[in-house]
Amino acid sequence: MNYKQDLSKMIVEVLDGQVDQPKVLNMIEKPKFSHMGDFAFPCFELAKMYRKSPQIIAQEIAVKIESPLISKIEVMSGYLNIFLNKRMVAMNVINEIISKQHHYGGHQIGNGEVVTIDFSSPNIAKPFSMGHLRSTVIGNALALISEKCGYRPFRINHLGDFGTQFGKLIVAYKLWGDEQKVKENPIKELLALYVKFHDEAEKNLQLDDQAREWFKRLEEGDGEALRLWNWFKEESLKEFSKIYDLLGIKFDSYHGEAFYNDKMENIVQTLKDMNLLEESEGAQVVSLQQYDLPPCLIKKRDGTSLYATRDLAAATYRHDTYHFAKSIYVVGNEQTLHFKQVFSVVEKMGYQWHDGLIHIPFGMILKDGKKMSTRKGKVVLLEEVLYEAIELAKKNISTKNPELFHKEKVAREVGVGAVIFHDLKHYRMNDIEFSLHDMLKFEGETGPYVQYTHARASSLLRKGKYSAGNTEIMLEEDEAWKIITNLMDFPEIVERAMKEYDPSLLAKYVLDLSKEFNKYYGAVRILEDTPGKESRLSLVYTVTVVLKEGLRLLGLQAPEEM
Ligand code: ARG
Repeated sequence: MNYKQDLSKMIVEVLDGQVDQPKVLNMIEKPKFSHMGDFAFPCFELAKMYRKSPQIIAQEIAVKIESPLISKIEVMSGYLNIFLNKRMVAMNVINEIISKQHHYGGHQIGNGEVVTIDFSSPNIAKPFSMGHLRSTVIGNALALISEKCGYRPFRINHLGDFGTQFGKLIVAYKLWGDEQKVKENPIKELLALYVKFHDEAEKNLQLDDQAREWFKRLEEGDGEALRLWNWFKEESLKEFSKIYDLLGIKFDSYHGEAFYNDKMENIVQTLKDMNLLEESEGAQVVSLQQYDLPPCLIKKRDGTSLYATRDLAAATYRHDTYHFAKSIYVVGNEQTLHFKQVFSVVEKMGYQWHDGLIHIPFGMILKDGKKMSTRKGKVVLLEEVLYEAIELAKKNISTKNPELFHKEKVAREVGVGAVIFHDLKHYRMNDIEFSLHDMLKFEGETGPYVQYTHARASSLLRKGKYSAGNTEIMLEEDEAWKIITNLMDFPEIVERAMKEYDPSLLAKYVLDLSKEFNKYYGAVRILEDTPGKESRLSLVYTVTVVLKEGLRLLGLQAPEEM
């Protein structure tokens, strides 16, 4: 049941349908203070339309609304302040969650349509950076949220496994590389080679030419180039898999940039046939003047393809293969122009599906206010951060709960949860200053705090020998009502997180719910054998259901004990 929705329908009815329901829904507010009701409806906008004062309109609406779910309506300076019938609403909300379980909060907005989500997409032979972590956790949350909203997510890891940097790497490896060392520590060694290449290339200008030459050979399918490239790729993927396993993330496709090598000629030909290709300083470009954008480079002077060419081929391939309703790209802010260009080329080609292409950008992870750069070797290795978080979680468990049964498993869930949540609680567009200290914090506004709240609630249920079933609900305490209204909001938060592509709404939501629950826990003797015990336990149970589901949508586990 959606109380806000119901209320908006009642208001529309009273207004004789003269204002449409989505608009009314939009106008309904949540008052800051509880003495102003659970919902408020301002009548100022209606005043013009009805040529009456807001106060009078409010009074007229107030007398006409009648519902067992509303206990009273007060009219105050042009506002309706609506108070819900706490007993009824509490009973409805709790029983709804008990019967729907983890399906509570779901929607059918997506109608079973496919959403492809291009996320994570790290670059081969380079460390998995903190920036890729952002894409990975935001993308994963968006996939889970879209599934909850009735879409079918298709998770694509568009590996950066092609491009001129592989020419550089091959040259560096042939000059200074050591097979054994690469095998022992692939990413570190390949990164060192890459960094060395850049240092040396500043002194020796020939190196860049050689790199271009090797990249060309790679593109033409030269045996030695291919063999080295394949090997770098395999070793890198092994390393990336460790991270995905730790994070508990799976992909439906690992088609990276190289996959599109044999699909680009087709695009280039189509662009030619459509008369969209122009020559500019020897290169082939699509002009995007009409969109106020710089031209999109399709082919370089030496005939090699570009990042954008591969993305055009990928967009077309995805459309033809998966028939998506939406195709989402979770990639940092700094690539906004790139995606604008690629999407505009698709539009210029006359493909209607261009309007389903969506870039979801996010801010950078900064170190001392500056961008971290791989090239200079200034990166923080994600794998190390994750292991450190898990170690810390283990230490915490050893002091707080040494008897805990699945110690290793829980430590993993908590440590990894801390890192994921730390990212997702920030609005994605904001830059984040990298701080290991903050990432490894388990108190305050953190994932472990929410997980801990869930475990505490679960333990109450065990102690109270609770078993879920529909019941009469009697809850008198103000603290309980706060929880009920929070629980009531969950479906709306899920929907907004989907519409705004914003997992931080959910992160903030589970934090709020945890805080309210902990207040309740501090104020009320939940397990005492007094009337209402069953109701209190039902409330606790519904909190565990919603916290667990909220955490799941963010990509976190919810241990029962910790
Ligand atoms: N590999 C790229 C990078 O690390 C991200 C790829 C994003 N996806 C895409 N279809 N371009 O910057």
